[in-house]
Amino acid sequence: MTILVAGGTVVGPTGAAPADVLIDGETIAAVVSPGSTALGSDLAAGAERVVDATGRYVIPGGVDCHTHMELPFGGTSASDTFETGTRAAAWGGTTTIIDFAVQRQGERVQDGLAAWHAKADGECAIDYAFHQIIGGVDDDSLKAMDELVDEGITSFKLFMAYPGVFYSDDGQILRAMQAAAGNGSLVMMHAENGIAIDVLVRQALARGETEPKHHSYTRPWQTEAEATNRAIMLARLTGAPLYIVHMSARQAVACLAEARGEGFNVYGETCPQYLYLSLEEHLSAPGFEGAKYVCSTPVRSRAEGHQDELWRYLRTNDLSVVSTDHCPFCFKEQKELGLGDFSAIPNGIGGVEHRMDLIYQGVVDGRISLERWVELCSTTPARMFGLHPRKGEIRPGADADVVVYDPQGTTRIGVETHHMNMDHSAYEGTVVQGKVDTVLSRGAVVVAGDAYVGRKGHGRYVRRGQSSYLV
Ligand code: URP
Ligand code: ZN
Ligand code: ZN
Repeated sequence: MTILVAGGTVVGPTGAAPADVLIDGETIAAVVSPGSTALGSDLAAGAERVVDATGRYVIPGGVDCHTHMELPFGGTSASDTFETGTRAAAWGGTTTIIDFAVQRQGERVQDGLAAWHAKADGECAIDYAFHQIIGGVDDDSLKAMDELVDEGITSFKLFMAYPGVFYSDDGQILRAMQAAAGNGSLVMMHAENGIAIDVLVRQALARGETEPKHHSYTRPWQTEAEATNRAIMLARLTGAPLYIVHMSARQAVACLAEARGEGFNVYGETCPQYLYLSLEEHLSAPGFEGAKYVCSTPVRSRAEGHQDELWRYLRTNDLSVVSTDHCPFCFKEQKELGLGDFSAIPNGIGGVEHRMDLIYQGVVDGRISLERWVELCSTTPARMFGLHPRKGEIRPGADADVVVYDPQGTTRIGVETHHMNMDHSAYEGTVVQGKVDTVLSRGAVVVAGDAYVGRKGHGRYVRRGQSSYLV
């Protein structure tokens, strides 16, 4: 099947220009400028199907490099399956996710990976890949890291938080970084000082401070900045490249920016929740409402100025990627596990469907350029995690993951309209400028206007190569 996406403005990380995109089967065959006499223009004349993109942007499908479908956490499991979560992602213009397979202390890494394949294979609406969480660094798991690199798992997440669950001590982190430096993989770090946080949590609960807002008060910016700095120093010591996930404290990003300025190979991501939500307006909502906004790192105080600074760091490339850290839990029966004890609220916010729209608001508000939107949400995550040039850009030979985005449309976000398996939305009632119009995944139309026309099992597992950012 050949498809012509015609009449739109093709946006990439380095520019935007009118062009038609010709798709042949699963890949992009040509990007044809108006009036071109190149080979592509002949092919275009014979396309079997035309998608009209007049007045719209044509962008590479979103790459969400941080999701947690069906993650067991806090005595329950994230409420989206790979089927429901990837369908919701498609609705929102994301055509590839990278989820986290889990290994815990005492388990074989290979078993953790096999369990994730069992959950995802044959279920996904869009393409998917995995990072591997190493929750127990020891001789066996270090050896397994080398094996996994050969299987297309080229990034490993470690935790400085969650003692007794996923936590690694500094010696374990050092050893895992040495392994990564040796096998060409990328270390992803959850950078919060979990030992200090656990003390603050116990002290708060002993004082009777049980409401959701204390989740943020007991994870103050110092615990993120300290861990970020420590992770950077260990990365510098070992020569391992480092990618810090879900950054929310401006002081932590300042540490990262300083190291980047000195030329070290360190990167950071943030997520829409840290750009839009705050301790004052959301986590401190009356009663137990604030539980909807409990995630780690926490959403932070607007009075402390984190949100505006994160936008600035996105513009200056000190933050390189926006992912979602999609980890949804329903309010009823899941978030409610923490009634009377904020530390028992499962950590996570669902947002895989809304990232492209929410970050597009940065373009609408003049905080970032159109090109930077595409770079943050698609091109850089693809390059960072070894998916480029297959994913992340509209260019001949790439997978035909293409989104037609209508800048004149509007999108209402809320539980009545979203497709994630959640009984609430962190952005309930928000109406944003811009709308996903058509989504193609490897040449198949999966969203057309207001209809989902994809299918479970269309999405394929993608083996990843090395990060383009390794030196
Ligand atoms: O609150 C969060 N972020 N939940 C998911 C697990 C993680 O640390 O990424
Ligand atoms: Zn994390
Ligand atoms: Zn996460």
